[in-house]
Amino acid sequence: MEPIRLWSADETTTKAIGAALAGLLGPGDVVGLAGDLGAGKTRLVQGAADALGADGPVLSPTFMLVREYNGDPPVHHVDAYRLSGPLELEDLGLEDVLSADAVVFVEWADRVAAALPESWLELVLHIGDDDHREIEVIPHGDAWAARGKPLAAALDPFTR
Ligand SMILES: Nc1ncnc2c1ncn2[C@@H]1O[C@H](COP(=O)(O)OP(=O)(O)O)[C@@H](O)[C@H]1O
Ligand SMILES: [Mg+2]
Repeated sequence: MEPIRLWSADETTTKAIGAALAGLLGPGDVVGLAGDLGAGKTRLVQGAADALGADGPVLSPTFMLVREYNGDPPVHHVDAYRLSGPLELEDLGLEDVLSADAVVFVEWADRVAAALPESWLELVLHIGDDDHREIEVIPHGDAWAARGKPLAAALDPFTR
């Protein structure tokens, strides 16, 4: 499946993209985010987590590695910024974080790519001039190939 390219003029739109994605997410799904500091990874997760009914406020987990929120389904929010590699994430109990019962968001997913499951949704955020963001949505694995149409439909309002 081709990547889907999205355009976000402001943080409200980036949160709305997260909320639109949330409608497709269920227990066991993993969403990995990549992009520079300040690209909007946490904003997007906030929009998605709010839509999933997470008992917010959803904060950047940078200093905690993992935050877990009650929600329907529960939301696990990982920030791999400070990890040196996937082994370290395993040491920290990756099996529990990548729970079959929860939706899992992983910031800096590119740093722990080897630890991710076969099916996951990759979001790459690029900072443009004048503060807009371009967001590439790249489905990986069978679970996302099967959801290609609803994914494209949900994100269509944010394509250019
Ligand atoms: N289009 C946009 N989408 C998301 N954030 C934006 C956008 N334009 C400006 N911002 C600002 O960029 C910052 C993004 O922060 P954050 O989501 O914490 O980034 P990250 O988690 O990638 O480090 C916020 O201060 C937000 O207000
Ligand atoms: Mg962040």
